[in-house]
Amino acid sequence: MMEGDITFELPDGVTVSLESARARRAPEADEFARAVLAGLASRPREIPCRFFYDAVGSELFEEIAKLDEYYPTRVEAGLLEAHREEIAELAGPSRVLIEFGSGSSRKTSLLIGALESIPAYVPIDIASESLKEAAGWLLRQHPGLTIMPLISDFTRTRALPLLARGRRKLGFFSGSTIGNLTHDEARAFLANAARLLGKGSLFLIGVDLKKSLSVLLPAYNDAKGVTAAFNLNLLARINRELGGDFDLSRFAHEAVYNERHGRIEMYLVSLVRQTARVLGNPFAFAEGERIHTENSHKYTVGEFQALASRAGWQPVKAWVDPEQLFSLHLLRL
Ligand code: AVI
Repeated sequence: MMEGDITFELPDGVTVSLESARARRAPEADEFARAVLAGLASRPREIPCRFFYDAVGSELFEEIAKLDEYYPTRVEAGLLEAHREEIAELAGPSRVLIEFGSGSSRKTSLLIGALESIPAYVPIDIASESLKEAAGWLLRQHPGLTIMPLISDFTRTRALPLLARGRRKLGFFSGSTIGNLTHDEARAFLANAARLLGKGSLFLIGVDLKKSLSVLLPAYNDAKGVTAAFNLNLLARINRELGGDFDLSRFAHEAVYNERHGRIEMYLVSLVRQTARVLGNPFAFAEGERIHTENSHKYTVGEFQALASRAGWQPVKAWVDPEQLFSLHLLRL
């Protein structure tokens, strides 16, 4: 075994190893391999939801965003459209706009159109292809805009481009992606964002609200099965990238609401007793055994403001749509 190699002890005494992966994989692929091997060996089994977003998963998420049942994207865009002038007025001129997990930047265009004299827009995303595509699209919408993309995991970003330093900033974190973090992770993210953005900054964050299960459950169990395909793509990605042999027809998508934690939880459920191999390591599943793939926390306006203030942010204003589906929070430091 190589020095520094990573091994995991399975409950039944089997040891899995990353040795073969380490020899020939890029760092991001290595991170995926580690997370999958560790996650499948742990109990309960879990794979972090950030690995949903390879090229196929990102496309499937774009499809989810267009579904009737999946209200967050549509309602948040409506809130931005309805309140962008007021947001721009509260922000004032000349703030550098920093977007965390910018993706396609489509919603940001609404904000950019309303804000007065932006010195620069800094989209932060791990996916360099999305950053390139989004920058091209945004420049066509807003010729002359200065864009300084940052390829980085937004939960771990430690520094901003030089041009942003010493200037007033407006942070933007849309889509309720903050809901995919646990409460502790969300607080750590907000505290790190406070350090990055600095005193006098504002932060605009989209947060999904707690609501009736008759609305919430269909959003994660859509009739066309797009969310199921999005969830199952994780196994397909393991097959593509880590030499996995998961039989996708023998796993099912499950999304349930956990009342105690105030969150949707997504799982992949093994429909039969079976063994799948990943990088040569066998993983045995009992019938009904689950892999936890995502949490999507929901907050009341008060709960989110309390969480943000524990990370140093003061609420300025929160906007909610008439059906009380989604909230847009403006915070200040
Ligand atoms: C990206 N994120 C906020 C989505 C959510 O609603 O938690 C991801 C998603 N998972 C299933 N559908 C959408």
